[in-house]
Amino acid sequence: MAERKLDRLLGIRTVGLREWKNGEIHYNRYEATPYKALDIFSENYKFKKTDKVVDFGCGRGRVAFYLHNRFHIPVTGIEANDKTFEEALENKEKYMMRAKHINAPIKFKFGLAQHYKIDKTENCFYFFNPFSVHIFRKVVKNILHSVEKHRRTVDLILYYPIREYKDFLEADTPFSVIDKIRVPDASNKKEKFLIYRLKEES
Ligand SMILES: C[S@@+](CC[C@H](N)C(=O)[O-])C[C@H]1O[C@@H](n2cnc3c(N)ncnc32)[C@H](O)[C@@H]1O
Repeated sequence: MAERKLDRLLGIRTVGLREWKNGEIHYNRYEATPYKALDIFSENYKFKKTDKVVDFGCGRGRVAFYLHNRFHIPVTGIEANDKTFEEALENKEKYMMRAKHINAPIKFKFGLAQHYKIDKTENCFYFFNPFSVHIFRKVVKNILHSVEKHRRTVDLILYYPIREYKDFLEADTPFSVIDKIRVPDASNKKEKFLIYRLKEES
């Protein structure tokens, strides 16, 4: 089914691109994770009822709405582009009319991912290439800091993982890959999810 039709089922509008103005080099443009990729991810990744997801660079909110709707778990989206953030809020208004039966919260916060204060209960962090590895390092450092203070198992979910992210995680952090989920019939081999986990020490 086309992306627009799937958007309609959720009552949202997330199709399209938005480039940053002023030659921004660290922040990447808006583009949503394809529904086909979200479907295959959801068939393979096992969410627990207690999981709380953060989508860093959530754009118009497709991932947040999709996961909230499918798994009824709390999701927070962080977005730094003001127009895109407004669109996420408009989407939320329409989505909520269809999702009244879901008790879990869905929230959007305007701001830079690297400034977001990670809550001690958040444990699944989603990234679809939102920014340069320079910013990614800062965000991962914040996650590690939060885990040091409040010990728990955390996952990083990378869609369309780029070499710089992988090299950094593998060389400079205690995260290790626990799963690779490929999108069937993908034309590009980057169209996959890599799941990195840091397990709470027992
Ligand atoms: C490739 S899109 C991914 C959208 C969404 N996560 C999804 O998968 O459908 C990346 C988004 O990150 C946002 N972004 C870029 N740099 C950011 C930053 N430093 N803090 C927060 N959001 C940022 C962009 O504006 C864009 O909307």
